[in-house]
Amino acid sequence: MNKFTPAKAAGARSVDEITGSRRLRRMRKADWSRRLVQENRLTVDDLIWPIFVVDGRQVREPIAAMPGVFRLSLDLAVKEAERAAKLGIPAIATFPNVELGLRDQTGSHILDPENIINRATRAIKDAVPEIGIITDAALDPFTSHGHDGILRDGIIVNDETVEQVTAAAVIQAAAGADIIAPSDMMDGRIGAIRDALDANGFSDVAIMSYATKFASAFYGPYREAVGTAGLLKGDKKTYYIDHANSNEAVREAEQDLAEGADMLMVKPGLPYLDIIRRLKDEFRVPTFAYQVSGEYSMIKAAGANGWIDGEKAMLESLLAFKRAGCDGILTYFAPEVAAMLKG
Ligand code: PBG
Repeated sequence: MNKFTPAKAAGARSVDEITGSRRLRRMRKADWSRRLVQENRLTVDDLIWPIFVVDGRQVREPIAAMPGVFRLSLDLAVKEAERAAKLGIPAIATFPNVELGLRDQTGSHILDPENIINRATRAIKDAVPEIGIITDAALDPFTSHGHDGILRDGIIVNDETVEQVTAAAVIQAAAGADIIAPSDMMDGRIGAIRDALDANGFSDVAIMSYATKFASAFYGPYREAVGTAGLLKGDKKTYYIDHANSNEAVREAEQDLAEGADMLMVKPGLPYLDIIRRLKDEFRVPTFAYQVSGEYSMIKAAGANGWIDGEKAMLESLLAFKRAGCDGILTYFAPEVAAMLKG
């Protein structure tokens, strides 16, 4: 037998007395009212599509750890860029898988105007001038050790790396890149790149700073995609931000803006929504998130196993970035979600 006194009998308040008749469920009662009060929306204009490019023709290599993502030769990358433009995706970000023979200690091949990244930019700009091209000026796909900087005696040397990354940025701009997005986290790179772009007549080329790039386990599949997984020794903790830190991320963003960054990026994405919100509130500048390879693969893998509804999880994760304050998202889901939003 229940030994507790029924609350009603003891004079407990009704729900309306408790809430003061404020019932938040009222506006959730129907689809029309939910749509009416929806605060954030995901549109195709929020999407940046990162793609992987390789040498060759008619190459479409699957990346095992990223179901649905391929390394594309330039002929096919151009086709995909055309498809993206038709879907209304505003911009593409390119990442190369460079043949091993071209990688060295300093990543010198990044300075070749004919490297795969610069050829990709020219080919895509030629065929699809209306789509924005974002290039990463980081060295990691070009170094024989997979680090984003020049490695000497076990140390990633900052200033020499900045020189290399800056020269690469100018060459990428000359190839037609609209936005330079340096992801290496060296100190001073944004100001150095801004000066060099301006000095070479590229004052219209913008800089999207990977301002808060955290040392993270979520980059794993990307390293398979660009072929750095087997090369990388040690970790990137001497240059990426400790993922325990939030104030340091704000300081990085503040510094990059002072040096001339036009936009900020937070990377990875979903585990760092708190950082996105802090940056948006603090600086009120265009703010982006990179939903990185590991985030993509987790949703894809769980979806493929039937453990979650992959499509719904994709949409929910992308909308979460908007709610956190993002103006846009770099995501491998871009064409899939764009097609869905269109249909
Ligand atoms: C390195 C770089 C990384 C990514 C893009 N450029 C991280 C890394 O390899 O350390 C990750 C992107 C992703 O995981 O989707 N400059």
